[in-house]
Amino acid sequence: MSWLLHPEGVAKKTDEVDSLVPDPTNPNVMVSNKSANKPFLAYKQYRHKQEKKHEEWVARKLERDERIARGEDVGPAEPDPTAEVEVGLWGLVKFLISTIVIVLLTGKFVTGSYIWEYDGKWVQAKTYFPVKQQLFSERTLALYDGSDPNKPLYIAIDGDVFDVSSNRLTYGPGGSYHIFAGRDAARAFATGCFQTHLTYDIRELDEKEHRSLIHWKKFFAEHKTYFKVGTVMHVPIDPMDPIPPPCKSPKSGDGNPAAVQDQKQGEANEGSKSAPKRGGTTRDAVREDL
Ligand code: HEM
Repeated sequence: MSWLLHPEGVAKKTDEVDSLVPDPTNPNVMVSNKSANKPFLAYKQYRHKQEKKHEEWVARKLERDERIARGEDVGPAEPDPTAEVEVGLWGLVKFLISTIVIVLLTGKFVTGSYIWEYDGKWVQAKTYFPVKQQLFSERTLALYDGSDPNKPLYIAIDGDVFDVSSNRLTYGPGGSYHIFAGRDAARAFATGCFQTHLTYDIRELDEKEHRSLIHWKKFFAEHKTYFKVGTVMHVPIDPMDPIPPPCKSPKSGDGNPAAVQDQKQGEANEGSKSAPKRGGTTRDAVREDL
């Protein structure tokens, strides 16, 4: 639009007026120093200076070599001032270290955690120091149900035994999920029937139940503070044994272990079998039922 403002023609600023300057690489040739040429001219000038420096260095080197040949005492060799600096392996290592430090510090600044709040398996000790795996019988597994505070607390799911000692509040005596301690109640994990499905018998689960079982297996395997300690060997299930019937009735307390307790408490109040006091364990309640 400048032609509108200056219809007579855009006047160049005085310092922008093109002039001819010698080509830095060939002084016999004149080239325009217009703005478009400036980076090129500057680069050429730089290259020219570098070449001159290099030639001077070569001359000094030759002179030095001659002096050495004459047996004269010369100082240490002068490095080529124009030689390109090699990054090399150490340079790469330094670059990586500084990048890591920057990423860690940015994480701390942005999220308050050096590792950007990552808590996946790569930052868990069990990934690098795997626990020696044991083989349990059902009877040995039952010893780790939390009733002995000096023993670790184990639960099993579909054969895999996990140390859940870090959560005694939930799995220990009196905890809402004590029913799972010291046993493999895989079916209850799948169906949510905490009263009648405390068994490793997972025959004929429907798709949803199967997904639930897989979910819980993954939950324990990937938990930050639980870790697998081995496998429990089960007595094989006789195919003729009946499959545990579904528990989906409002009275059964499906899915919510607290409901099981409430139900047992109700029974106690009605003067039925000696049920646990409120706050007693769900599993105890279940045992009475079995
Ligand atoms: C298939 C059904 C279910 C299964 C297998 C199941 C299993 C579990 C397990 C294993 C835990 C402990 C997790 C841990 O180690 O941190 C848990 C926690 C919990 N569940 Fe369930 N659950 C089920 C359904 C329910 C339902 C329906 C409710 C409530 C109506 C419920 C309420 C809770 C509560 C409140 C906790 C936290 C307990 C605590 O930390 O003491 N759950 N559940």
